[in-house]
Amino acid sequence: MMVTVLKLGGSVITDKDQPETADQGAIETAAAAIGGFLQADEQLVVVHGGGSFGHHHAARVGVSSTDGSRDVAGLLAIHRAMGDLTDIVLDTLHDHSVDALPVAPLSAAHRTADDTVEFPSSHIRTMLDEGFTPVINGDVVAHAGKGATVLSGDTIVVSLAQSLDADRVGLCSTVGGVLDDSGDVIAEIEAYDDVADVLGGSESTDVTGGMAAKVRQLLDLDVPASVFDLGSLAAFLDTGSAGTVVR
Ligand code: IPE
Repeated sequence: MMVTVLKLGGSVITDKDQPETADQGAIETAAAAIGGFLQADEQLVVVHGGGSFGHHHAARVGVSSTDGSRDVAGLLAIHRAMGDLTDIVLDTLHDHSVDALPVAPLSAAHRTADDTVEFPSSHIRTMLDEGFTPVINGDVVAHAGKGATVLSGDTIVVSLAQSLDADRVGLCSTVGGVLDDSGDVIAEIEAYDDVADVLGGSESTDVTGGMAAKVRQLLDLDVPASVFDLGSLAAFLDTGSAGTVVR
C-alpha cells in the first residue's frame, strides 16, 4: 500500500493574521479531498502547520526552530493552541468519514544536543496499518540544552517521510508552488541554487523560515515532494504530483 505524507500549511487552514482563527471553509475543502482519496486503499499521514494558532504565540514566547525557551506557561500556550487547531482538523475529517487520530509531537519527539530530530514512528506505522489516519501538528518539543524549540510541520514531514519510507510527499501551501520572479510556478527544482535568487521571506509572522526553509528541507528527501495550493490538493492526491516538484 502506498504511504502519502501530506502537510496542510498553517496559512492554508487558518487566517494567518487573526490570532487563533481557523479557516473552516479551507479545512472542509481539504477534508473533502482527503475523504475522497481514502475511499481507495491508501495510507495517509496528515501533518498541519500553525498559522495563527502557532506563530503568534511562538513569537511572543521567543521560541523558534533554533531559539529555545524554558517558559513553561508560554510553551504550554503554544502546545494547547496547536491542539485546538488539531481538534478542528480532526472533527472536520471525521465529518468526511476519515478515521483520523491525533499524534502530538511534544509527547513523541525531541531534538538532541546536535539539533537532530528524533521522532520515532512505529506507533504511526501501526495506526496506518490499522486503517487510521494520523493527524500530527507542528508543536514545541524538548531540545537538549535549549529547553524546548518549535518542531515545524515541514520538519515533521521530512522526518516521517523518511522513517515511514513514504511513496509520496505533498505540501499544501497558499501559493500554487514555488514562484519565479514573474510569479509563475516553477515546475521542478533539483538544487537550491536553481531558486536561491527568487526565495524571499514570508510576509506574516513565521518562526520556521517560510518557503526557503521548505525547499531546503525537501531537497534532502529521497522521494520527490510537491508544493501546491488547496485548489490542487485533489489532483495531488490523485496523481502524486502537483505545483512545483522538488526532487
Ligand atoms: C509551526 O508549524 C508550529 C508552531 C509555531 C508551534 P509550521 O511552521 O509548520 O506552520 P506553518 O505551516 O508555517 O503555519
